[in-house]
Amino acid sequence: MQIRKVVVLGGSGFVGGYVVAKLDAAGYQVKVLTRRRESAKHLILLPNVEVVECNVMQDAGLDQELTGSDAVINLVGILHNNKTFGFERIHHQLPRRVAQLCAELGIPRLIQMSALQASASAPSAYLRSKAAGEAAVLEYAKKLDITIFRPSVIFGRGDSFINLFAQLIKLLPVVMLAKPDAKFQPIWVEDVAICFVSSLQNIATYSKVYELGGPKVYSLRQLVQAVADELGKKRIIVGLNDSLSMMQGFALGLMPIKLMTTDNIKSMQVDNVCKQEFPTFFNLTPTALETIMPEYLNNQVPRAAYDKFRGVAGR
Ligand SMILES: NC(=O)c1ccc[n+]([C@@H]2O[C@H](COP(=O)([O-])OP(=O)(O)OC[C@H]3O[C@@H](n4cnc5c(N)ncnc54)[C@H](OP(=O)(O)O)[C@@H]3O)[C@@H](O)[C@H]2O)c1
Repeated sequence: MQIRKVVVLGGSGFVGGYVVAKLDAAGYQVKVLTRRRESAKHLILLPNVEVVECNVMQDAGLDQELTGSDAVINLVGILHNNKTFGFERIHHQLPRRVAQLCAELGIPRLIQMSALQASASAPSAYLRSKAAGEAAVLEYAKKLDITIFRPSVIFGRGDSFINLFAQLIKLLPVVMLAKPDAKFQPIWVEDVAICFVSSLQNIATYSKVYELGGPKVYSLRQLVQAVADELGKKRIIVGLNDSLSMMQGFALGLMPIKLMTTDNIKSMQVDNVCKQEFPTFFNLTPTALETIMPEYLNNQVPRAAYDKFRGVAGR
């Protein structure tokens, strides 16, 4: 079946913006569901994109908005648990409901966003809930063509991971770093978006779970150092041991705006590194962090580097 109409849940978010732009460029008719139209205003001008206000956690609205589409991409996710819409509802019940509705409404194609190291036995509630979401969706594998993506941490303009450390480095002379030896394999958001869009109509990707990681593995300390170097800031990075890391997570988790929680620290107990090679299917060589980070961390376009060199050379 030819896919034309795609509904994206979570399309207003960081990853969603890139996925939606690529879908639009590929000529799909895209509907983005968001709780607040304002959060997706950057997508409204895209010619093939319709932004619809809909609380996807409420059945009636979701049912109505999915009706008539050919495919659904579910990117809805949270990093910190909360009492109203916590991991269980967002990462487990919502994907289940989406898959169920796809089956009921005759929508054949579903792409579900998970996370690297999602597992029922993972140390963090975040990763366990992502695994529960995968399992819930896969219960419909006989009725739907499902693809699941499990990326490591995703970087790019607008990310919250690299930008969070950039903010801390700008503010603090000394960075007290939890889990400094935790490993990550950061992947560029554009590469993730390419994988989503190119898999949409390719049956070779149906019923597959793909791990997505970039070309290099870094410890958290190396990542933070790379950010500091890029910003030209000399900072002392003090690595915390496991108990102090948990204490920091606990203290920061009490703040109204959460930078880190104990659950995030627990996620870092398992290395966020792919077991598989980057899937050759996508015909893509993942882009290195060092190539992209300067462009957005210093709000630079590549040509701006020449201006820097000219400045240094006094020209
Ligand atoms: N960023 C990463 O490094 C990374 C790594 C691995 C996996 N992932 C996964 O990738 C997905 C997208 O991540 P992201 O970084 O783009 O996240 P994001 O920028 O925080 O966007 C999250 C999206 O989820 C929606 N959402 C959040 N809470 C909701 C709620 N209670 N009800 C309805 N919608 C809600 C938001 O939609 P509204 O417009 O309604 O606010 C928003 O579009 C998530 O599933 C995440 O777990 C991300």
